[in-house]
Amino acid sequence: MIFKRLADEIDAILTRDPAARSRVEVVLCYPGLHAVVLHWLANAAWGRGWKLLGRLISHVARGLTGIEIHPAADIGRRLFVDHGMGVVIGETSKIGDDVTLYQGVVLGGISLDEGKRHPTLGNNVVCGSGAKILGPITIADGARIGSNAVVLKDVPAGATMVGVPARQVVRATKKERSEFCAYGQDPDLPDPVARAIDAMCGDIATMRARIAELEDLVAGLRAQRGVPAVDEGEPSIIAGPQL
Ligand SMILES: CC(C)(COP(=O)(O)OP(=O)(O)OC[C@H]1O[C@@H](n2cnc3c(N)ncnc32)[C@H](O)[C@@H]1OP(=O)(O)O)[C@@H](O)C(=O)NCCC(=O)NCCS
Repeated sequence: MIFKRLADEIDAILTRDPAARSRVEVVLCYPGLHAVVLHWLANAAWGRGWKLLGRLISHVARGLTGIEIHPAADIGRRLFVDHGMGVVIGETSKIGDDVTLYQGVVLGGISLDEGKRHPTLGNNVVCGSGAKILGPITIADGARIGSNAVVLKDVPAGATMVGVPARQVVRATKKERSEFCAYGQDPDLPDPVARAIDAMCGDIATMRARIAELEDLVAGLRAQRGVPAVDEGEPSIIAGPQL
């Protein structure tokens, strides 16, 4: 059981980090894995009422990995903390399955209440480096938090949040994200350059239609006033390449 869980953790890291080359490398060189395994011990001690031992294991893990996970934090399967340094996961945090956190992510509290005061992260959430998620808020499944964002409110499923305070840049999709996007990048997002070119083509078509109307109007006025028509050989501005 524990070995299966460990193997899943290692495979998750191999899948999500293009820099990881082998299981041996992951076992020896990934502080995210060391922190998660030590958290299992700390959490087990905490659950048995050995709270000081739990805190002590957590403290040692922090010294070894730079990742501070409170022993009471509820962490799902296949958490991947990449690089690790400066990550803080508070006491009442809850993290779903297949979550990825980069360095400097903080799941922190903003009150001294003794109850729930840290965030809840759903499944497949990705938090970019330096993101701060503060308070007893919920980040729903598949959401992506940009690097250095400060999130203070609930985030809907599949949303991308950036900035301080964080704002949503991509509407939540009904379809939940199931595949991991390395570094939060989504290959299915529309290409912004293609969108800009599409918009320009639309504008050019509108302008051509308007110019054609004006040319007709001018030709009518010339005819009324007996002014000779524009040279037939002169190319019209609307006769450019079709876009
Ligand atoms: C948030 C993130 C997931 C968005 O990626 P994306 O979906 O490809 O979005 P885009 O790059 O198209 O950016 C969308 C908009 O958000 C802005 N944006 C993206 N990331 C941002 C960030 N971290 N902070 C502020 N604004 C950001 C972009 O400038 C763009 O703004 P615009 O629409 O006004 O031009 C990604 O930028 C990110 O921060 N990933 C984390 C990566 C990381 O931490 N890597 C560390 C590895 S060690």
